[in-house]
Amino acid sequence: MKAIILSENGGTDKLILKEINKPVIAPNEVLIQTKALSINPVDGYVRKNEIYTKKKLMPLPGEEMILGWDVAGTVVETGSEVTDFKNGDEVFGMVKFPGHAKAYAEYVAAPADHLAKKPAGTSFNDAAAATLAALTAWQGLVTYAKIQPGNKVLIHAAAGGVGHYAVQIAKHFGAYVIGTGSASSKDFILSQGADEFIDYTQEKFEEKVQDADIVFDSIYGDHILRSIKAVKSGGRLVSLLAFFEGEIAEKAKAKDLLTYRIAVESNGEDMKAIAKLIADGKLKSHVSEVYSFEDIPKAQDKVDGGKTRGKVVIAL
Ligand SMILES: NC(=O)c1ccc[n+]([C@@H]2O[C@H](COP(=O)([O-])OP(=O)(O)OC[C@H]3O[C@@H](n4cnc5c(N)ncnc54)[C@H](OP(=O)(O)O)[C@@H]3O)[C@@H](O)[C@H]2O)c1
Repeated sequence: MKAIILSENGGTDKLILKEINKPVIAPNEVLIQTKALSINPVDGYVRKNEIYTKKKLMPLPGEEMILGWDVAGTVVETGSEVTDFKNGDEVFGMVKFPGHAKAYAEYVAAPADHLAKKPAGTSFNDAAAATLAALTAWQGLVTYAKIQPGNKVLIHAAAGGVGHYAVQIAKHFGAYVIGTGSASSKDFILSQGADEFIDYTQEKFEEKVQDADIVFDSIYGDHILRSIKAVKSGGRLVSLLAFFEGEIAEKAKAKDLLTYRIAVESNGEDMKAIAKLIADGKLKSHVSEVYSFEDIPKAQDKVDGGKTRGKVVIAL
């Protein structure tokens, strides 16, 4: 089968198309024939940085490294312990994250309990998109922040992969949603259901919002200190990047915030919740660009640029 190997840490020129053996499944796994997969910023971090490679990919010594965790496709083989899926089922999921899922490949060995059935009427591209990014939004808002109807929720990078799902999920739970983005993302963010938009290039969000029940922060640097100002006392602050330590922890404690530094994890139950939202018409992927398998390096360059609208997907 075809796979894209990461030959060593570095630029996208280190992603090499190679013919390798199909994976052998474990008893709790299914073999998926990949129809689509999606690209995330973490793919680029792991490609570039050895520290991330060790932490997120966890390759065994001497093992060939293959990036990718987000897959949608058809089950072509099932392990002896698998009861939920059979050959021919169309499935999607974020597989083995963190870990070595090897999803940049024509066939992927996936634990059955990391997957959900693809809702009928949803394309493989849209399903592949609604995996790591959608799970992050779900786990951050629902599992950790325990979003409630009427909550005021500030979502940063609302036009991106995680952000556009977070806006839709927050609206589904009856929240009042404010999304941040640049001016060119305004119409898109409002079209996802946001009630208000803040242009981060023109305005300081913390001057406009100081009473959010939940702030969902996915931006590097001192941004999290600014987000602390936007949450009301006793509110919830979800961080995808910054850790709550030193000055950040002190300032959050002074406001009595509940803080969550989340690290998304594979979870079949959460995937099923996402599949239900999609099936019910409550969650829709926005796939802005589709690349061929051979063009995965170009797709990673695009995502590395940090200006993705919705998701970038690879169709096989
Ligand atoms: N901890 C975890 O488990 C976890 C999970 C998933 C993602 N993440 C991290 O979270 C971040 C977001 O992920 P993603 O997949 O959503 O990324 P993405 O799709 O690449 O996000 C791109 C979006 O970010 C927006 N943006 C950039 N700078 C911004 C700013 N200062 N304020 C508001 N919006 C801004 C851009 O909007 P404009 O074009 O309008 O500027 C663009 O639409 C990444 O760093 C990712 O690695 C962490």
